Amino acid sequence: MVKPDGVQRGLTGQILERVEKKGFKIVAMKLVVMPREKAEEHYAEHKGKPFFKDLVDFITSGPSVSIVMEGRGAIAAMRKMNGATNPVEAAPGTIRGDLGIETGRNVVHGSDSPASAAREIEIHFDPSELLDYKRIDEAWLYE
Ligand code: RTP
Ligand code: MG
Repeated sequence: MVKPDGVQRGLTGQILERVEKKGFKIVAMKLVVMPREKAEEHYAEHKGKPFFKDLVDFITSGPSVSIVMEGRGAIAAMRKMNGATNPVEAAPGTIRGDLGIETGRNVVHGSDSPASAAREIEIHFDPSELLDYKRIDEAWLYE
């Protein structure tokens, strides 16, 4: 997900470019202002934490871009590409390391396990919005 700060700062294109260039396949994508109810569900694991309200306020504050991407090792690789939660600690070359400064404005979200990806995909997408197709470079991306 490109969070509202990433969209407002005009970073959506270059973030999606990194996903595409890496070889991951985008199988669903939308630009939405997340409804509060969905945002609270999305961040349910953080309910009760001191930053929860600010996080939900922020994530619902403007358009964000949700995508579903696929590929071998996609979840771990995307988390690495996103970089550490605190952008100041995120390695250069990562999205957060290159493009952010504050934890509460860290540009992107990525699912942290297959179970949370499945849970989050259900929150953001209808099953009919997930597309099944082949990228023409698949034979060159995988042995
Ligand atoms: P994300 O879920 O957004 O991909 O980020 P993450 O796994 O690296 O971090 P997580 O611990 O899941 O936290 C979710 C988001 O909450 C905000 N946060 N603020 N003020 C704070 O101490 C604090 N801690 C976390 C960040 O925007 C983080 O991405
Ligand atoms: Mg997280």
